[in-house]
Order: sequence, then C-alpha cells, then structure tokens
Amino acid sequence: MKHESVETNAGLLIILTLAVISVGGLVEIVPLFYINDTIEEVEGVRPYTPLEQRGRDLYVREGCYTCHSQMVRPFRDEMLRYGHYSLAAESQFDHPFQWGSKRTGPDLARVGGKYSNEWQVQHLINPKSLVPESIMPGYPWLATTPLDYDDIEQRMIALRRVGVPYSINQEEFDANVERFGEETAVMLDINRAEANLIAQAQEGNFDGDRSFISEMDAMVAYLQVLGTMVDFNQYSEGYFAEFR
Ligand code: HEC
Repeated sequence: MKHESVETNAGLLIILTLAVISVGGLVEIVPLFYINDTIEEVEGVRPYTPLEQRGRDLYVREGCYTCHSQMVRPFRDEMLRYGHYSLAAESQFDHPFQWGSKRTGPDLARVGGKYSNEWQVQHLINPKSLVPESIMPGYPWLATTPLDYDDIEQRMIALRRVGVPYSINQEEFDANVERFGEETAVMLDINRAEANLIAQAQEGNFDGDRSFISEMDAMVAYLQVLGTMVDFNQYSEGYFAEFR
C-alpha cells in the first residue's frame, strides 16, 4: 500500500491510527494487571514512618523533585556513582513516586546514610557553605518552622486508601506484625501516629535540637532513610532478573 493512499483517505488513516495506538496502549496497560508478579520480593521495604512521611510531603512541597530524581538506572556508570539500581519494590509505597530523569542535582534514591544529619541540616540551610559551586537554593526556613503534624493521621488514612499498609484496627495491625515485624508494625499504626512522630523526632534528633520539632527534623529523617531499606548483599544479581 502506498503512503499516499493512506494520507488521502481519512477513514483508512483513522483505522490505522487506532490500530497503532491500541498496540501502544496494550503494551502499557497489560503489565499493570501483573504488577504484583513483577515487583521484586525483597526483605526490608516498609512504608515510611509518620515523621519520614511528613518529610516526604515537605520534599514534594518544596519542589526538590524539580532538580532531583530518585531512580538509579541499571547502567554501569550510574551504579558506580550511586549504588545498586532502584528496584520497583523500593518505591511500591511511594505516592506519588519520585522517579524521573531531570537531574540538575544528583539522584537521591540512595542518599540515606551518605552524610551525617549535621551535614544534611547545614547543606539544606545553605548548600554553598559545604559545596561552594552548588547552584542548589537554601531552605533555611525548614530549621525554624515548627513541623505541622496535626493532620498526620488523615494523611496516613489517605495513603492507606491507595494501598499503603498503615493499620487502623487490630486485624490490620496483626497482619503488619506478621509482614514487617512488631517494631515496624507499631510505627505503621495510625492510632499511634502522633506519639510515634514525636518520639522519632526526639530520639533521632535530626536537626540537632531535641526541644523543638522542626520541618528540618522530618526532611532529614526522610533523606536519611532513602535507599537504605534493602540489604543488597543478601541477593545475587540473577535473583532480580527473575522478576523482569
Ligand atoms: C535548583 C535545583 C535544585 C533544587 C530545587 C534542589 N537541589 Fe539539591 N542539589 C542540587 C545540586 C546542583 C546539587 C549538587 C551540589 C550540592 O551538593 O549542593 C544538590 C545536592 C543535594 C544533595 C546532596 C546529594 C549528594 O549525593 O551529594 C541533597 C541531599 C539534596 N541536594 C537535597 C535537596 C532537597 C531535600 C531539596 C529540596 C528541599 C533540594 N535538594 C532542592 C540542586 C537542587
């Protein structure tokens, strides 16, 4: 068939266009029905604690994602720089996920534990004081603004609705004990969210001031957990290939 006959025949063009679009659509939609089989089964991945989750909300509020991706791609150079490539399992509780390809700054998928809390605080207040050539803006207000956590329970209930296993009753709590262990299950209990948040902020002392729970506490708690949940020494490379 000549190209010209397709372009001069609107009906044919529409039919062929629909055929092409449906192939593309199927390729994107069908895998969603098998999503549970393609998420790697790894130990350690859990939903964020209330404090980390508030940090994540601030990360989104401040637009950190406009310069930072959270997805190490499976390329040699990226793995040498950032560590093991990101697994689907690692962002299964992220709503919205923070993948992306816009990297004005480095990828942050594995930044947890890379620096001390003090470094993170100082860097967020004034990046140039630690990295003189940095073009990252400062976020000094995080250190002076008290963290608003009045609505932490509502936030967790909303996430629970889209599938994050925060527990709201005894049955769900017991399921979480089975799935994540007792200590983590307590952290995922919506009824204890506020107390958990306060305790983690005070014990973790992320911003260096125990008496004051700032937005900085939440942000640093979040940054420090990124990419640290899976112990990659436990798995051989071939294991992950099974899920592709
Ligand atoms: C205008 C772009 C831009 C924005 C917005 C931005 N950053 Fe950055 N960020 C950078 C650049 C560039 C670097 C590398 C230089 C440096 O370390 O300061 C960086 C570095 C970092 C690092 C150190 C990463 C490493 O592996 O060394 C962290 C952590 C970080 N940013 C967190 C944040 C957070 C949290 C926010 C939001 C509150 C944010 N950034 C917003 C550009 C940005």
